Amino acid sequence: MIRRVLLWFLAVAVLGIGGTVAFLSHRSPDMRTAPSIKVASTPERIARGELIFGTAGCADCHSETDPTRFGFPVKDGGLGKGKPIPELPGTIAAPNLTSDPETGAARFTDGQLIRAIREGIGYDDRVLFPMMPFTEYREMSDEDVQSVVAYIRTIPPIRNALPPSKVMFPVNLFIKSLPKVVESVPQPAHSGRGAYLAKVNGCYFCHTPTERDQPVPSKAFSGGHVFSLAKDVRVVSANLTPDRDTGLGTWTEPQFLAKFAEYKDYAANGPPKIGLEYNTVMPWLAHTRLPDDDLKAIFAHLRTLPAIANPVVVHPDAPEEKPRQ
Ligand code: HEC
Ligand code: HEC
Repeated sequence: MIRRVLLWFLAVAVLGIGGTVAFLSHRSPDMRTAPSIKVASTPERIARGELIFGTAGCADCHSETDPTRFGFPVKDGGLGKGKPIPELPGTIAAPNLTSDPETGAARFTDGQLIRAIREGIGYDDRVLFPMMPFTEYREMSDEDVQSVVAYIRTIPPIRNALPPSKVMFPVNLFIKSLPKVVESVPQPAHSGRGAYLAKVNGCYFCHTPTERDQPVPSKAFSGGHVFSLAKDVRVVSANLTPDRDTGLGTWTEPQFLAKFAEYKDYAANGPPKIGLEYNTVMPWLAHTRLPDDDLKAIFAHLRTLPAIANPVVVHPDAPEEKPRQ
């Protein structure tokens, strides 16, 4: 009897999965042809784009970085050259975004770059693996995304051919539902600026616990998002909600600014060597360059959140780390 029930259950499960796969294979992603825009380059846009390329994390994933130094700085001569990303489902590389005509972003039109960044569709009409955070960048304003493209065009060429990405079955089917067409995004209103900056700079993504790799909105900014730096070495994001015991409840605005300012010297002169178990994915080296007004807007936004009690051990695999509570 039990056996029959089990067989029946198995049959239903197999049919169910088969049905879902059949459904997903026929489903086409929400996509459009790349817009035929030509981005006008100005010195202001290039400067703004350079800042965003750092603070929004593009430089981290699309460059060769040094894992032996604090904050994983970009290696000299490694900016924008792209790299294969190991341990993902398939062969996946963060592409070369330098202006190299054969292996870099010079191969892509401005419209293709904008569509890839905000809509998650590659130049070849492929759905991008969502480690490329287009689900966050879809809120990036037209002005900001065009500034990023203006800056990308100035990155000195590095010839670095990478294997074309191929996302493994069935993950390639499940990610089809993620892209969304994004036509036009205005600059955020003054009152929405903190939330906007926390979104496009990854604060929301990294500081929110995830389920199936996506942040859980009801636990926004409560920390506990685990990042694996190597096998058995993790770093965990801090709780940024106003909870007094486990979050930033007792922090003042000047303390918040000072915390970011601490890393200015590292950003200017290069960060020190540090053991992997004390290293961090928190982009201190890039975020220390955020203007005070941006940090103040982010802090004000964090203050409006519900306090969530969530004690976090930031470096759980470091010998001397105590729980933060
Ligand atoms: C967390 C890592 C990560 C971050 C942050 C990130 N990328 Fe990516 N990016 C990737 C990966 C991985 C791919 C390849 C995905 C694939 O091939 O399926 C990718 C793909 C792309 C592509 C697609 C090129 C094409 O048409 O095939 C562009 C353009 C791009 N990224 C630009 C950017 C820019 C600009 C930023 C910052 C605003 C950025 N990326 C931030 C990891 C990242
Ligand atoms: C790539 C992931 C990532 C992004 C993006 C990120 N953080 Fe973090 N953050 C972390 C991790 C992990 C830690 C804990 C390790 C550490 O302190 O460096 C942390 C720590 C912090 C701390 C220190 C808290 C404490 O108790 O000492 C603050 C403040 C902070 N982040 C604010 C921000 C803000 C604001 C943003 C956006 C502008 C942001 N983070 C973006 C991962 C991230």
